[in-house]
Amino acid sequence: MTSPITTARHGDILVVTSDNPPVNALGAAVRTGIDAALKEAAGDDSIHAVVITCAGKTFFAGADITEFSKPPVEPLLPTLVDSIEGLDKPVIAAIHGTALGGGCEVALACHYRIAVPSAKLGVPEVKLGLLPGAGGTQRLPRVAGVALALEMTAKGDPISASQAHEAGLVDRLAGEASLLDDALAFAAEVAAARPLPRASEKTATADAQVFADFRKTNARRFRGFDAPEANIACVEKATQVPFGQGLQFERESFMKLMFGVQSAAQRHIFFSERKASKIDGIASDIALRPIKRVGVIGAGTMGGGISMNFLSAGIPVTIVEMQQEALDRGTATVRKNYEASAAKGRITPDQVEQAMGALNPTLSLEDLADCDLIIEAVYENMDVKKELFGKLDKIAKPHAILASNTSYLNVDEIAASTSRPQDVLGMHFFSPANVMKLLEVVRGAKTADDVLATVMALGKTIRKVAVVSGVCHGFIGNRMLMPRQVEAMKLLMAGATPEQIDKVHVAFGMPMGPFQMSDLAGVDIGWHRDPTRIENIRDALAAEKRWGQKTQAGFYDYDEKRNPSPSPRVAEIIEEFRVREGAQQHDITDEEIVERTLYPMVNEGALILEEGMAQRASDIDVVWIYGYGWPVYRGGPMFWADTEGLKKIVAGLEKHGFEVAKLLRDKAEKGERFN
Ligand code: 3HC
Repeated sequence: MTSPITTARHGDILVVTSDNPPVNALGAAVRTGIDAALKEAAGDDSIHAVVITCAGKTFFAGADITEFSKPPVEPLLPTLVDSIEGLDKPVIAAIHGTALGGGCEVALACHYRIAVPSAKLGVPEVKLGLLPGAGGTQRLPRVAGVALALEMTAKGDPISASQAHEAGLVDRLAGEASLLDDALAFAAEVAAARPLPRASEKTATADAQVFADFRKTNARRFRGFDAPEANIACVEKATQVPFGQGLQFERESFMKLMFGVQSAAQRHIFFSERKASKIDGIASDIALRPIKRVGVIGAGTMGGGISMNFLSAGIPVTIVEMQQEALDRGTATVRKNYEASAAKGRITPDQVEQAMGALNPTLSLEDLADCDLIIEAVYENMDVKKELFGKLDKIAKPHAILASNTSYLNVDEIAASTSRPQDVLGMHFFSPANVMKLLEVVRGAKTADDVLATVMALGKTIRKVAVVSGVCHGFIGNRMLMPRQVEAMKLLMAGATPEQIDKVHVAFGMPMGPFQMSDLAGVDIGWHRDPTRIENIRDALAAEKRWGQKTQAGFYDYDEKRNPSPSPRVAEIIEEFRVREGAQQHDITDEEIVERTLYPMVNEGALILEEGMAQRASDIDVVWIYGYGWPVYRGGPMFWADTEGLKKIVAGLEKHGFEVAKLLRDKAEKGERFN
């Protein structure tokens, strides 16, 4: 097998190039090749400096994550990194693309770093539940300062080459098209420089207060995660003990995280997110339909948010409403959202104008005739949607894709109201649609392969994580939400309070519990609107205009700032229903709440798989992580079920009288996992 590492002499400089597509991950072959190149440089007196660079789209994007679950292969990355720094000839990292994780650590071990302006540097290990385990937590604060090292390690976001330059993490910026030449010139300049600047020989200093403040400021963001604190502790160590001891501490902390369940969950999600874009049975090189203009019907919160996704990606949007006032309001909201982003420095004022300039508001459906994709985001009612799709069928150009943003309705029935069901599918965005990363793409019985593939690829263009769902009530996400909400209501009857149930969910790591969610979404959603018809607790709340946060009362009472407090009135209503229905009550433990609200979700997920409504268990995990805020450190409901043990889930379901899905029972009996 040929090595991904090649070496070439440029006068007295040895250029070491890695070519390991797609992202130059630092797998065993790459490490072995670099190690050999270092030995070549050390053993040859005519070599005076070394440049390490990468072919393809990026500098090393990190350790090879696929190796983490296999036995380690020498040379290990920490050893290699030490060898780079230890070479007694200058080593220069020439960086383009992204120098991430182990890639950034290789760069830190080099004596000098040069980067093109478009490059990014970062240590995203924390997002995989890890920390930079090849000296990164010890070298980064010594090179770039403690404050930046804390930000970069504990949050994991990369920084630009110019920020890195300012911080001393990059010594010099290269021309965008002349990286190698500029690196060679740099190498020639420093070839004779001694002593060599070694990160391990620098010191990192900071007041203890810096760490306390950082922990406090970010406590909410880090809640539930193990890795951020481990990163902080390592950086703190760098300010307290000599380099070697710091490395040892880093190593121990890394191994602890690596073998923990959180990192396994976070790595699972990293790969699951990428797997989700692959559609079983459709070739990855299928010809896609060009999408040059998108039409959106409905300029409400949803339609406006959907439009922003395309505008931000540089795709013009025609947005349609029925009334001028609603159209103006919708357009103004889009502008307001963009201006808020500009005020926060996330985009430039020019970008605001560019996006708004690409938005074409209109009152006429006929104006959608030149759109390649039309997304309907109107009122959730089958008759309304069918009528609209009938009209679109006559207006849209041939091969235009027609999508419904329905959250529950039957996409096949909608498609049947057109003469081109092969061009119809569902695109279920999650509110706020310009923020939430999930896109459920609903594949109808007749949806053409290229239509599905086009929309899945478009998902990536608009920076969503797109997941394919079959046609079933509520698709993947909302279908699994239903049993959770139903069980939560039953638990109220059995003696629990909304606060108790929500608390268990929040402690589990969810952003909010079932009742907090109802109050946010609106208790009146789906209500029959007849205040005299009171059949359940929800009807009783709705009849009293306890519609949630928007009316300052729902399952909780709210003050003007929307701070919730337990509601005595809700307690009364619940009690009335318990009496009315003669409900048996008992002390409800936290464990019972988990078993009765989360286990049924797993059961529903198993049914979804059984029916072929999701392609794979990991897709279900991705839906719940990106659409509903399931804690990523628990890897999604199906991965979590695997970690709980499927036998335990089955036993829990049986204990509470649920009918167990066949797939779940079979897997439990065979000792298998979902993922
Ligand atoms: N190891 C193994 N495979 C990797 C990888 C890695 N570090 N990074 C990316 N890949 C794979 C992806 O799984 C994907 O495979 P597929 O085509 O089979 O699905 C392929 O490379 C392309 O990746 P993307 O689709 O993500 O490509 P993009 O161009 O969108 O993004 C990227 C490129 C920004 C580099 C992104 O892939 C990324 O963020 N990668 C992870 C970076 C990271 O976390 N590095 C730290 C690793 S841990 C580490 O270094 C530990 C050390 O401290 C000891």
